[in-house]
Amino acid sequence: SLKAVVFDLDGVITDTAEHHYLAWKAIGDELGLPFTRSFNENLKGVSRMESLRLLLSLSKEPLRFTEEQLEALATRKNELYKRLIMEITPQDALPGIPELLDELKRRGVKTAIASASKNAFTVIDNLRMNDRFDCIVDAAQIRNSKPDPEVFLKAAELLGVEPEACVGVEDAVAGVEAIRAANMASIAIGDAAAFPEADLVLPSTGELTVERVREAWERKRK
Ligand code: G6P
Ligand code: MG
Repeated sequence: SLKAVVFDLDGVITDTAEHHYLAWKAIGDELGLPFTRSFNENLKGVSRMESLRLLLSLSKEPLRFTEEQLEALATRKNELYKRLIMEITPQDALPGIPELLDELKRRGVKTAIASASKNAFTVIDNLRMNDRFDCIVDAAQIRNSKPDPEVFLKAAELLGVEPEACVGVEDAVAGVEAIRAANMASIAIGDAAAFPEADLVLPSTGELTVERVREAWERKRK
């Protein structure tokens, strides 16, 4: 039976996907790179350094940055991002998320966060949501980032449940890939056309109810 729901953080629990985008956009503008929202979809769920590599791949001429310069760019993006997430308050949980967490708890379904971000705990602290998850796995606890399933598998392990008894929720293509590789049922939040592989796609977290979670799980298991 369904035992746990494992949530991505950025873009699922709160709209930090937007903050990541704005911070990368500032770096892209400085470098004169044609960084767009649609290209940003590729960066979702992807680690900081890999995101930087993707951003720099937009350059027409090959960019010759030293390792130090790459580190400095990534650090500056993170400084911008950290300034943006300082403003997060409990009001910034995405629609339906607090209600869903309450309902899952009432029904005895466990919950976890599986995030590729090194800033995950800061975001969750600012949301005052630390006590609302049975476990939180962030970038510091894993070696391979999404689409590798490690972060989702680690969450299931810490919860003490089989991945097959879990539903994963993601807003990133790399994230849905990771959920599927972990053999969990998958729910994508976003545009249906972008997630042909997900068991269920919902346009927003406002539609994410226990019934929808169950539906995704049944689709995968039948
Ligand atoms: C999440 C976000 C990505 C971000 C990554 C690393 O997966 O979806 O956009 O690049 O975390 O975040 P960090 O806060 O460690 O730079
Ligand atoms: Mg995300």
